[in-house]
Order: sequence, then C-alpha cells, then structure tokens
Amino acid sequence: MENQTTITTEAKPERLRQALLEGARRLKFAGIEGARLDAEVLLRHALGMEKSEFYLNLDALLPIEDEECFRKLLLRRAQREPVAYITGRKEFWSRDFLVTSDVLIPRPETERLVEVALERSKLCAGRAQLEILDLGTGSGAVAISLAKELPEARITAVDVSIAALEVARRNSERHGVASRIRFSAGDLFEQVAGEFDLIVSNPPYVRREELAALSPEIRDWEPLTALDGGLDGLDCYRRIIADAHQYLVPGGHIILEIGADMGKAVAALLNGAGWYAPSLVYQDYAARDRIIVARKTPPSNLTAKGSNRG
Ligand SMILES: C[S@@+](CC[C@H](N)C(=O)[O-])C[C@H]1O[C@@H](n2cnc3c(N)ncnc32)[C@H](O)[C@@H]1O
Repeated sequence: MENQTTITTEAKPERLRQALLEGARRLKFAGIEGARLDAEVLLRHALGMEKSEFYLNLDALLPIEDEECFRKLLLRRAQREPVAYITGRKEFWSRDFLVTSDVLIPRPETERLVEVALERSKLCAGRAQLEILDLGTGSGAVAISLAKELPEARITAVDVSIAALEVARRNSERHGVASRIRFSAGDLFEQVAGEFDLIVSNPPYVRREELAALSPEIRDWEPLTALDGGLDGLDCYRRIIADAHQYLVPGGHIILEIGADMGKAVAALLNGAGWYAPSLVYQDYAARDRIIVARKTPPSNLTAKGSNRG
C-alpha cells in the first residue's frame, strides 16, 4: 500500500492540466503565495506558449523535455527566485521588458511615475525638444515608456550600475527608441550635463533596518543598490534634491517615486530647498502616497512654503 502511494505521488503528469495542478501544489507546499498563477506562467514559459494557446491545449500531452524544463523552473521558484527573473520578462506600461537580476523588477506602482510625468510634460508645451532625465533607470522601464509616449522627447538615462544600463539599452532597442535615449553610467548627476524639462526618478528608498524584513524574493534576489536608501531611506532624495535645480529649466518639474510613508519627509526636503513651488503628493491605485512633484520657480516667485498634498 505504501509503495502504491509513492508511485502515485511521483508519477509524471501527462497532460498540461495535470502538470499545472501538480506544479501549483509543489509551489504551495514550498510556501509560495500565488502558487497557481506562478505555476501557470512557468509552464507556459517552458512550453513557449501564450495564454490563449495554453488554454486551448490543456488536455494535450506534456512533452518529456518540457516536463523536465518545467520541473527545473519550479525548483527555482521554490527557492524564491522571482518569476520575472526566471522568465527574463516583466510587463510594464503594457510593454514587455527584459529583466535580469542586475535590475529591479519594474513595479506596477511605478506606472504612476510615468503617468504623472506625462501630465507634467503637457505643461512644457512650446519647447521644441522635450529633455527628460531619468536618474536610476534600472531596466529602463520609465525612460523607455516616456520615450514611447513622447515621440518629441530626448531622454538621458543614468544608472550607477553598468550591468543595469546594458539591460536598459537592450530594452530601448527592442522598443525602437534607442536613438532618443542617451545612457550614462554615473553616480546621480556626476556625468550629467545640460538642462531638463523633467527630472524623474524612482531611487532606492528602503530604510536600511527594513532590508532584512523584505520578502526573500526581494531581499535575496533583487540588487541591493536598487533598494538600499540608507538609514532613513532618504539618502538619494537628499542628494537629488540638493542638485536638481541646477539641471532643471525654469518651470521644469522634478517627479519622484516615494515610499508610502515618505511624503512629508520628501516634501520638507523639496520645500526647504528654496527652488520649488510647493510640492504635490500623488497616490497610487492602492491609495498610498507614491509620487511627489515640484516645479522649479525662481526664489522670488515663491510665496508659500510647506506641503500641498493632492
Ligand atoms: C528602485 S531602482 C529603479 C529602477 C527603475 N527606474 C524602475 O523604476 O523600475 C533604483 C535604481 O537606481 C540605481 N541607483 C542607485 N543608486 C544610484 C546612484 N547613486 N546613481 C545612479 N543610479 C543609482 C540602481 O542601480 C537602480 O537601478
């Protein structure tokens, strides 16, 4: 009886439907949240199938070599490697981006950064060529999405990680915007020259003491340089806000992604800098503070200080 049970448990799944159930069961057993969806994405990746083809073939037999590949992918996921690193892909702003473990996996909430930057770009109308600076470009998700939406824009995309810039450059080629993006390796503004209508950034903002409590998917797999914001999480904001005014045209906008509890602190930095009209905080779709924006105004035009939340 005992032998029979063992044989049943280890029997190879024959059909996609069974393989999917078995994969989901294994991931659930390994403590993976969203095990069913992850198993499906990994099985489709092993098979090289889009969703519609997969669902039409749920009763097809799973070829042995694909079963072997699926098994290896499940093992990686069970070790908490994020699905996006396993498949090498992540959707952002409805486009497919290449990702490797050299770059942060672009997050849905960062789409708000693109959205707000697009809104602000309308206030720059009249400029022949919109100039945008993306500090900490990572996979290039933000820079490339803006380049796609704003065909008249030229973008400078900076990262301290050369490996990340290589991923961003490949993404810019895949999306046909490489000729309008200048990639620059450097520490924030170190290698930046010129003036910009918009400065956008999603800098690292995890407080150092919170790094250890991140999920294993983030803590053990995503690049520390993309996460570590220093003791209070604000290191990059301080440095960006200290220098940004030198690189913004008068009336230009600085647009930063922030941690959900950082609105007041970053607003204080912006409002205290003396170069900006009162900042505005925007929320993400989960109603958490996510983006802060300020417009460069000559100091004499500044009438009010303090945060203006919106
Ligand atoms: C939170 S990730 C954002 C990546 C991408 N923009 C996104 O939103 O998905 C922060 C990025 O900033 C880069 N970075 C960190 N410190 C930097 C610095 N001092 N100068 C330039 N880039 C930096 C990291 O390498 C990482 O790619």
